[in-house]
Amino acid sequence: MFKTRGLLVSLEGIDGCGKSTQIELLQNKLNQSGISFVSIREPGGTAVGEGIRQVLLQSSYSLTSEAELLLYMAARAELSRQIIIPSLMEGKVVLCDRFTDSTFAYQGYGAGLDLQWIRQLNHKATGGRLPDLTFLLDLSVQEAAARRGDNLDRMEKKNFHYHGRVQRGYLEIARQEPERVVVVDAKVSKEKLCGYIWQKLFPHLRKATKRTGHEF
Ligand SMILES: Nc1ncnc2c1ncn2[C@@H]1O[C@H](COP(=O)(O)OP(=O)(O)O)[C@@H](O)[C@H]1O
Ligand SMILES: [Mg+2]
Repeated sequence: MFKTRGLLVSLEGIDGCGKSTQIELLQNKLNQSGISFVSIREPGGTAVGEGIRQVLLQSSYSLTSEAELLLYMAARAELSRQIIIPSLMEGKVVLCDRFTDSTFAYQGYGAGLDLQWIRQLNHKATGGRLPDLTFLLDLSVQEAAARRGDNLDRMEKKNFHYHGRVQRGYLEIARQEPERVVVVDAKVSKEKLCGYIWQKLFPHLRKATKRTGHEF
């Protein structure tokens, strides 16, 4: 993987585990600390990416897993080149609501597509710039479903077994890459979870801002 300045941080976990909530809380903390950052969500974040998001999340479409994977990768290629890499080059922190691990977890472990193929595509789509640090918000499939409520989109309608495989896949990724992936218990309150993530993130922010000269 190639390195740039800046810090690329992703939040991962099954739908309903609390990623978007934590991204919002982290944005507040970064603002308060005067750290320049950009925050993006996958799929999306570019004009083409948002269009692809519509296709992926619409309940009325039935997509093959292969087409689904390639659409995610197309959105990622746009996002990486238009936003992520340029922002990192400027020394910014980039916060991603889902990134490369989602594809391993959903299309790989969940849908059964070849993990090696996904690895290669991830590499090409990101230009080789993979996350420096990833928080995996760990919540059971049942608890996440209870938090989500009833208004499910196409991806969320896939059955419990599928989400179980996704969840176990995420834990397997964390087991294989303990240096990068921090598993956090997502059952605790929003504030407590944010405090824990911030505590783990802080030393990395310090190092990254030292590299760029933006001390805080
Ligand atoms: N720590 C938490 N404890 C209880 N409820 C939470 C917590 N974090 C998020 N929620 C709630 O769970 C739901 C899903 O959270 P969200 O952040 O949208 O998850 P995700 O983005 O991972 O799908 C929301 O209604 C949110 O308010
Ligand atoms: Mg979300």
